[in-house]
Amino acid sequence: MAKAANDAKPKKAAEDHLEETKVQIKKLEQVFKSIGKTASGEKCDAIEGLIKEADGLMEEASGTALEAGLLAACQAFEHYEISRYGSLREWAKNLGHDEAHKLLSEILDHEKATNNKLTNLAVTSINKPS
Ligand SMILES: [Fe+2]
Repeated sequence: MAKAANDAKPKKAAEDHLEETKVQIKKLEQVFKSIGKTASGEKCDAIEGLIKEADGLMEEASGTALEAGLLAACQAFEHYEISRYGSLREWAKNLGHDEAHKLLSEILDHEKATNNKLTNLAVTSINKPS
């Protein structure tokens, strides 16, 4: 999606979050380690659906419609992640997994910050009538 974005701001936001995601993967590995489990990948049907939707958008839209659509697609990912990390964080807390709770809270904060950046971009730039 970062490659498809022509506007510099959404492109940078997507690239920055890609780097944050790499840090999040390390934190998730720590979460698993802290509860005595080994991290492993698992396909997520919801994310697969969001990716499919974004792929369709990139095939069909162009120009400002593509920029606005990509931003909305990025926010859909963030909203999903916020929902999931929020739940996981609370479950970790309830189960007494303090380190996992702390790490998941950090990831949740990153996701919220990214969403706030995207919202700001939408309101001040991408979705602003010209
Ligand atoms: Fe994210």
